[in-house]
Amino acid sequence: MNLPSFIWLWKIAAWSMGLSLLAYLLLAVTGFWMLRSRTSNGTPFILPFGWGTSQVRSLHYLMGGSMVSLVLLLLFIGIIGTLGHFGSLGHSSHLVAGLIVVALVVVSAISATQIPARRWARPLHVGTNIILFIAFAWVSFSGWIVVQKYLP
Ligand code: HEM
Ligand code: HEM
Repeated sequence: MNLPSFIWLWKIAAWSMGLSLLAYLLLAVTGFWMLRSRTSNGTPFILPFGWGTSQVRSLHYLMGGSMVSLVLLLLFIGIIGTLGHFGSLGHSSHLVAGLIVVALVVVSAISATQIPARRWARPLHVGTNIILFIAFAWVSFSGWIVVQKYLP
């Protein structure tokens, strides 16, 4: 690849990251709603907008799928862009941060599919997503640092 600059690619990365964080936020909110309606014995937890549990679950699934796709897109962009520019990978801690985020998102999505059937799946799902918050912060920060060298 002989492109004048990769800045357009890193712009896509920054936008995708923004959307991923928005998806994460909606997942945290809808996940919390599901947890509350599942554990509210006695005083029932009223879901907003008159929604039923299945509608919240569908929205959670939709956002989850979007977040997984966006993170895989970011991995793809990062690898293609770095290989195109340097011809090799591993130029900063951003690589480790990126791989950790991808691993956590995959574990979260796989554990989610096991939630009704297996007892360990729910704590694993919620636990990986809490760690994912920190990993997201790290990948955003390190991405913001490395993108500086491409700026004019
Ligand atoms: C990777 C994408 C994700 C997928 C595919 C996904 C999917 C699911 C599924 C299928 C359930 C079980 C719903 C049920 O039948 O009760 C669930 C529950 C839950 N998820 Fe997610 N989720 C994702 C990401 C997240 C994130 C990022 C968070 C938090 C920031 C989160 C928080 C929760 C919570 C709190 C529950 C409820 C657990 C409970 O009832 O105790 N999820 N998720
Ligand atoms: C989930 C989010 C992300 C993942 C999984 C990810 C993944 C990666 C990976 C694997 C690389 C190759 C790193 C290397 O071999 O050294 C990379 C490079 C890069 N990424 Fe990301 N990235 C993410 C978010 C971001 C964000 C938010 C930005 C900021 C705009 C960004 C900007 C960059 C840049 C500029 C490089 C080139 C690295 C360099 O020149 O040293 N990335 N990314």
